[in-house]
Amino acid sequence: MKILVTGGAGYIGSHTCVELLNAGHDIVMVDNLSNSSEKSIDRVKEITRKDFEFYKCDILDYDGLTKVFDENKFDSVIHFAGFKAVGESCEKPIEYYHNNMTGTFILLRVMKEHGVKNIVFSSSATVYGIPESVPIKEDAPLFAINPYGSTKLMLERALSDVQSADKEMSVVLLRYFNPIGAHESGMIGEDPNGIPNNLLPYVAQVAVGRLPKVNVFGNNYPTPDGTGVRDYIHITDLALGHLKAVEKKTGVSGVHIYNLGTGQGYSVLEIIKAFGKAAGKEIPYEIAPNRPGDAAICYADATKAKEELGWRAERGIEKMCADAWNWQSKNPDGYR
Ligand code: NAD
Ligand code: UD1
Repeated sequence: MKILVTGGAGYIGSHTCVELLNAGHDIVMVDNLSNSSEKSIDRVKEITRKDFEFYKCDILDYDGLTKVFDENKFDSVIHFAGFKAVGESCEKPIEYYHNNMTGTFILLRVMKEHGVKNIVFSSSATVYGIPESVPIKEDAPLFAINPYGSTKLMLERALSDVQSADKEMSVVLLRYFNPIGAHESGMIGEDPNGIPNNLLPYVAQVAVGRLPKVNVFGNNYPTPDGTGVRDYIHITDLALGHLKAVEKKTGVSGVHIYNLGTGQGYSVLEIIKAFGKAAGKEIPYEIAPNRPGDAAICYADATKAKEELGWRAERGIEKMCADAWNWQSKNPDGYR
């Protein structure tokens, strides 16, 4: 298949491109490099020993995107491009709504004009808000607790409306839980700008000496050790979920919704311990105030993806931490 990958230079996009290329698909990548480095593109080529076309293009640029579609005939689009930082979305809601929503609308318009009817969209477990119960199934109640989450929830709705207006379309909504780790080569990985907001990159930067200690956001949650529990998933497993989704659902009309998680929860303290083991060093931490808006426990019921896509996460927490450490220790300053 020939697949357009928007946001392909980013963390999840680059790992997905590796798996698409390894599986023999043709890809074209579009990214404006607003939150990524051109180096990740070279490294995807190096890992796979395959070449592909990269357009430095903003999905908000209708003419630029039209040129990409004029020059290529796509079977499907995997759409990662967007902003993703929850805290920043509260400070800059206009920028987040514009980039994530308007960008997706322009992409959908150009797809329509070129008769491309298949899209896989990066959604998030954030659409479940503070979950009422776990494990979370795809039919659980949805609500947004911040502007970033609103963009995902509204885009899920908009994509579903677009599909109901054109019954030939295939829309896949993938709700990711907490992607961590890196490609096992250590050549590509997560490279956040500034001080990381998410747990794993923070722990990794403490391990490598860039930050002094981990702040554990609360130890008074109703969980076994009092710290927050999440469903961490290896980035390669997540990438393989996209491969399965695009292979199984391209040309299958409808709106197809899947959780991509492992179904297993780990606490903050368990993660710090597992990462310390992988890195062969003690990770210093201290208990800090709870982060507003955090759920106590969040993990997936991923049986739908297993039954319908034939996909399940196979890499455990040791492998996630070992690969994250391999990337971080080989690239202490990320791609810089
Ligand atoms: P990322 O920031 O590493 O990748 C996003 C890429 O999109 C970046 O390379 C960025 O330069 C590009 N981009 C942003 N706006 C663009 C625009 N207007 N035009 C062209 N390119 C643009 O983030 P990621 O972690 O790889 O996330 C990918 C997608 O998955 C995002 O939509 C994100 O919201 C979603 N998601 C991520 C997580 C996570 O924990 N990483 C969890 C759930 C959902
Ligand atoms: C965050 C986002 C969520 C997004 C998800 C994946 C918030 C409020 N939510 O969720 O929308 O879908 O990332 O990108 O930002 N923790 C610490 N210390 C830290 C960082 C985190 O103790 O320095 C704790 C958190 O309280 C939480 C766990 O670690 O219990 C995981 O946090 P994080 O990696 O930010 O992911 P989520 O909270 O699941």
